[in-house]
Amino acid sequence: MNASDLTAGFNRGVRIAGTGSAVPDRVLSNHDLAKMMDTSDEWIQQRTGIRERRICDPDKGEGTLWLSEQAATRALEDAGLTGADVDLVIVATVTMEMTCPSTAARIAGKIGATPAGAFDITAACCGFMYALNLADSLIRVGRADRILIVGCDCMSSIIDYEDRSVSILFGDAAGSAVLEAVDDPARGSVYQSLQADGRGWPSLYIPRHESQIAEGDEDTKIRIGCLRMNGREVYKFAVTRFQRAIKDAFEKTGLAPDEFGAFICHQSNARIIESAVEKLGLPEDKVYVNIDRFGNSSAGSVGLCLDQMRKAGRIDESKPTMLVAFGGGMTWASSVWRH
Ligand code: UT7
Repeated sequence: MNASDLTAGFNRGVRIAGTGSAVPDRVLSNHDLAKMMDTSDEWIQQRTGIRERRICDPDKGEGTLWLSEQAATRALEDAGLTGADVDLVIVATVTMEMTCPSTAARIAGKIGATPAGAFDITAACCGFMYALNLADSLIRVGRADRILIVGCDCMSSIIDYEDRSVSILFGDAAGSAVLEAVDDPARGSVYQSLQADGRGWPSLYIPRHESQIAEGDEDTKIRIGCLRMNGREVYKFAVTRFQRAIKDAFEKTGLAPDEFGAFICHQSNARIIESAVEKLGLPEDKVYVNIDRFGNSSAGSVGLCLDQMRKAGRIDESKPTMLVAFGGGMTWASSVWRH
């Protein structure tokens, strides 16, 4: 099936007008973690591919709002636009400092996007993908002309650093994009999926109260309010769902792996990405990996990769880009993007 068949019924498409990202300066290396808990650089690198991650310094006012604002400002600058040019601001995060007002409303206020609509969404590590696919759809149907999206998580704010099973994986980051209407419906997300299986929630969750602890998880010594994860369960889910999402995109678009110009995958664990490369025959040089330097930044991850790849000239825009993620919920999502 070609792009015009997939987007039949729409009379306009979407382009990425600009991207931006932000990470804190503070580096937390595997060696730093080994001084805080019973782990080692060797174990972490072997199991995850991570060497270091960035974490916010709350004493300096760093956090989700701070990272999101920087990434959004950079995306607008890259697009040559100001906040006043956007109709809607969507922030995807599970680490909002406040649930009311939304992070998006505060960002919109800071960048002068009034009276643009603004709201947050939560889809954990799929957050940026959910925001991207939603924004593409709203623009296609004519409900908005320009949408600013941000995926951001300050994971260090919900990590118990006395626990070694979860803390080693995560870092803090934000990625942002400005999406804009174009006349050609064959541009933008020509295929997309947004999916979830809520039955798997106990594999990855942040309880606010003791009573919310999942059955069988009572003995885990992680503070209430911090992220809990059944690593093995998530790993199994990720390997199958992640690969299924990529395969579905190949099947639905009729495109083969070598017809893509870039693959932007959620950075959850280098082994999960390597397994997809091997099993699905993805061209290795087109698959971006930055988990070694930034860890898993949840909703920040895909947007951070997108911005870094664009700025490094590593996206061949003459070919489609595949974006794909999975995460808490459990959720998974993909998008085949024609530039
Ligand atoms: O964005 C989505 C979020 N999450 C994911 O994608 C996570 C998916 N899961 C994973 O990436 C992996 O499950 C982990 C990297 C989290 C863990 O790797 P694993 O190979 O599944 O390890 P495990 O949990 O099966 O633990 C193996 C051993 C255990 O010791 P015993 O019972 O075999 O003696 C653990 O206690 O490793 C031990 N262990 C550690 N050792 C050193 C667990 N964490 C650590 C650690 N350092 N940090």
